Amino acid sequence: MDKLVIEGGRRLEGVVEIGGAKNASLPILAATVLSRDASVIRNVPQVADVFTLVRILKFLGAKVRHEKDRVEVDPRGISEPVLPYKLVSTMRGSICFLGPLLARFGRARVSFPGGCIIGPRPIDLHIKGIRALGADVTLDHGYVVAEAERLRGGRVYLGGAFGSTVLGTANVMMAATLAKGKTLIENAACEPEVVDLGNFLKKMGARIEGLGSPSIRVEGVKRLGGAHHSVIPDRIEAGTYMIASTMTSGDVTVKNMRLDLLSAMVDKLGEAGALMTEKNGSVRVRRRRGPLKPVSVTTLPYPGFPTDLQAQMMAFMCVVPGISVITEKIYPERFIHISELNRMGAGIILEGPSAIVSGRKKLSGAPVMASDLRASAALVLAGLVAEGRTEVSRVYHLDRGYENLVGKLRNLGARIKREKE
Ligand code: EPZ
Repeated sequence: MDKLVIEGGRRLEGVVEIGGAKNASLPILAATVLSRDASVIRNVPQVADVFTLVRILKFLGAKVRHEKDRVEVDPRGISEPVLPYKLVSTMRGSICFLGPLLARFGRARVSFPGGCIIGPRPIDLHIKGIRALGADVTLDHGYVVAEAERLRGGRVYLGGAFGSTVLGTANVMMAATLAKGKTLIENAACEPEVVDLGNFLKKMGARIEGLGSPSIRVEGVKRLGGAHHSVIPDRIEAGTYMIASTMTSGDVTVKNMRLDLLSAMVDKLGEAGALMTEKNGSVRVRRRRGPLKPVSVTTLPYPGFPTDLQAQMMAFMCVVPGISVITEKIYPERFIHISELNRMGAGIILEGPSAIVSGRKKLSGAPVMASDLRASAALVLAGLVAEGRTEVSRVYHLDRGYENLVGKLRNLGARIKREKE
């Protein structure tokens, strides 16, 4: 296993190029199996989760040519729509094969994704949605088994205790594209990644309206063709670098970023003291004159503050004098980073779904352990501003969703390197 070694105290300056969105790439690559024709997806980030998904496509029998950010999928060779535990357990996101495999083959057998460090990952809403399309769904020895002669259009409300479901909406929308008749998905997820998936499906010939709104309408078609598509930028990667620039009082231009993809975070970062200016598809992030201000953040479904930037914002608030409150409404247990940040001298206490952060002037470098993808990013950000040396172990968590993090940070002036543990 590798670790990252960071010497804190450097301002970040320069330009960072944002890659394609991991959380759009995964369902879009899964959607290619809806057709018998080949598709080409570009701007796909070279991260571990994408390599896992490509492995799954090959396991299913598809021919895949994966070169850098370009993935060509020829799904003709797929015959057995079965996804075993050993593949699904490494990545919860592989549940997004359920809808497309069921729609294309009339049956699908996908291992039930376990929970993970950020909390349970239930799929009751996914199952509710495909049942609404006429599928017979059973749970058999840890597998979700779905069958349907031919899916038929239906109406389903996808709201749960924590709002809508991103991959649940993706699964139902993908399945509905080949169902007979019309489907209405109410309380659908509005995330830009779901919109990007919908736009890819429309290029394949799907009939979809209401993308980006809580009501998505799909009119089923007989078959879908292959398509070419370029994935939207990764707003979570972009947000991570925008926070990093502000935290280090730097001056970073984030290329391939639109402020409207992160309006809630932009609002809070501005309130804290960031100065963000948008120009030709890039965002320049500096710190306004005067002291940084503590802010209160609550994570909510899009367009609310994204839960995937909660840990990174918490790392920032650790070095802003004053009291900040961070409430997690999507994954109430997503606070594993608190103990590690406190090892670096942060002053955070957990009160139910809220973390109370008492900002310090300085953090001190320490050996810390990465746990989940975004918590790991938070520890790197803390290391950038901490006094002395921080070592972040179990870096494979970061590799799942950040392409070339060390290289990009070094280009911005950070003292960071990757070493064997
Ligand atoms: C997607 O996960 C993202 N992953 C997550 O990003 C992200 O945190 C999450 O959406 C929320 O924005 C991918 O897109 C691959 P949900 P997803 O279904 O779709 C509950 C990252 O770091 N729920 O929107 O699995 C669930 O427990 C990852 O890149 C049900 O109750 O998330 C959670 O509390 C982490 N029943 C909430 O809804 C269900 O059937 C949102 O989950 C499904 C979900």
